Amino acid sequence: MTVATKISEVRQQVKDWKRNGLTVGLVPTMGYLHEGHASLIKTSVEHCDKTVVSVFLNPTQFAPNEDLESYPRDFDNDKKLCEEMGADLVFHPEVSEMYDEDSSTFVEILSDMPKQLCGKTRPIHFRGVCTVVSKLFNIVTPDKAFFGEKDAQQLAIIRKMVKDMSYGIEIIGCPIVRESDGLAKSSRNTYLSDEERKAALCLSKAVNLGKEIIANGEKNAETVISKMKELINNEPLAKIDYVEAVDGVTMNPVKEIKENTLVAMAVYIGKTRLIDNFSVK
Ligand code: PAF
Repeated sequence: MTVATKISEVRQQVKDWKRNGLTVGLVPTMGYLHEGHASLIKTSVEHCDKTVVSVFLNPTQFAPNEDLESYPRDFDNDKKLCEEMGADLVFHPEVSEMYDEDSSTFVEILSDMPKQLCGKTRPIHFRGVCTVVSKLFNIVTPDKAFFGEKDAQQLAIIRKMVKDMSYGIEIIGCPIVRESDGLAKSSRNTYLSDEERKAALCLSKAVNLGKEIIANGEKNAETVISKMKELINNEPLAKIDYVEAVDGVTMNPVKEIKENTLVAMAVYIGKTRLIDNFSVK
């Protein structure tokens, strides 16, 4: 496995692979990799001849009041995991390699899609995500790219960007990976104290409750959401940012639960903001 820090190295390697007719998968990450990322890499290795993992803590998707500075990092461990999972190239650029000092071009979806759900409290987040992912697509020119379904809004936005910008890249969503007690894997789980870690289970419990209520025939979104909120509000350390039912493609709120409805939430556990969701099948 090769580690590249320069865009030119990645371009050269990918060019060589493509000359030999090999397909390329991209797994974009911000590092501090866990089993969720491992499953994305594994899926890419299964689907593509070569797999590139980008490890880049992208500053443009963090607002000044957010956790860019404290975001956990452990590149040695990231490298190890990438190697174990069979990645071929890790792209780990400096911020200056990805953004010139006078960089002023952004990729932004102008519909309401990035303003819903997480966009309400993180207004510049998806502009930063689209910009960096679009740059990574231009650098790596993958055939397929792999994203986790935990970030369901991000996945929907990337799909929309790929369609709108005519990227010939197949976007593959991979299922949420959970701890044995149900908590969705996240690099941010590391912020949680022992007490908060226990409290954080209210997210996956709310997911399970929502699924159960819907499986029992409830179609009214408000009824489902209010029961999920009640469960979360019973946890003293939890503060709801949002719990919402939206259309799985447009991210617009829905009144009636049907196939492809996304039920998504963001909840503060202490100072840590966690997300979770499920799609109605
Ligand atoms: O999901 C993430 O880790 C990031 O938003 C991504 C897609 C790597 C872009 O920085």
